[in-house]
Amino acid sequence: MSDLSPALWQPLLSTRSLGRAVNHYEHTLTSTNTVLKEMARQGAPHGSVCLCECQTAGRGRLDRTWSSPEGQGVWISVLLRPDIAPESAPLITFCVALAMTQAVRETAGIDARIKWPNDVVAQRRKLCGILLEMGFDASGMYVVAGAGLNVRRGAYPPELADRAVSVEELADAPDRSVIVAEYLAALEKALGRLEREGFEGIEADYRAQSCTLGSAVRVIGAEDFTGVAEAIDGTGALLVRREDGALQRVLAGDVSVRGVMGYV
Ligand code: BTN
Repeated sequence: MSDLSPALWQPLLSTRSLGRAVNHYEHTLTSTNTVLKEMARQGAPHGSVCLCECQTAGRGRLDRTWSSPEGQGVWISVLLRPDIAPESAPLITFCVALAMTQAVRETAGIDARIKWPNDVVAQRRKLCGILLEMGFDASGMYVVAGAGLNVRRGAYPPELADRAVSVEELADAPDRSVIVAEYLAALEKALGRLEREGFEGIEADYRAQSCTLGSAVRVIGAEDFTGVAEAIDGTGALLVRREDGALQRVLAGDVSVRGVMGYV
């Protein structure tokens, strides 16, 4: 049995709802986000989880593909039907990033940080990517929160070795079932704080884990400019102080943000 089978991680769960609804696990799927979106359309409840060993059409942000070879990572999507306004939905990305950061810290002792908007990094290389997708049905908004965590060295293609990293390169990799259970628990807590208190409920933790805030960044989009990332506003946009002194609001959907010296 694979350590991603629900039978192995469900007994470790400390959650009330995440992982306790419909759990779909298969060896090979196109994309856990794609499959879970279809489950959502058919009425799957809040907390449903989709995960697999290998994705044949794993998807990343900005229409990129996401390498997801067999047994090398945690390729997981969680269906959320959150009690928040649709315009706040992008903030769920921060909950996912916080939860994955906590999961690798608690289970492997890795000092991971969050690179705005949706990467978890360690030692200046990408450990996990996040893809959030929204939809609406008769019961309101739903969000499919996908995360791809590199656990083994083979998770990412060799040509990305200068920008990507895996848990096993940084620590003794725990069973993936332990990571999944910790991740779902941390995600449920972060989402609860977001639902109750809005961005303020997660802001302090996010600031503490961010490697973007306070750093010089290069924003690559319709326009290419550099500045210092000063803050995140209540909608999740990054506020960058440009070299001419103006404060520019940067939206996650439109851009890549890098460190001025490289990826972080
Ligand atoms: C990115 O950094 O561009 C986001 C990558 C997100 C990858 C995960 S793996 C599980 C889920 N299913 C997908 O097809 N994508 C996300």
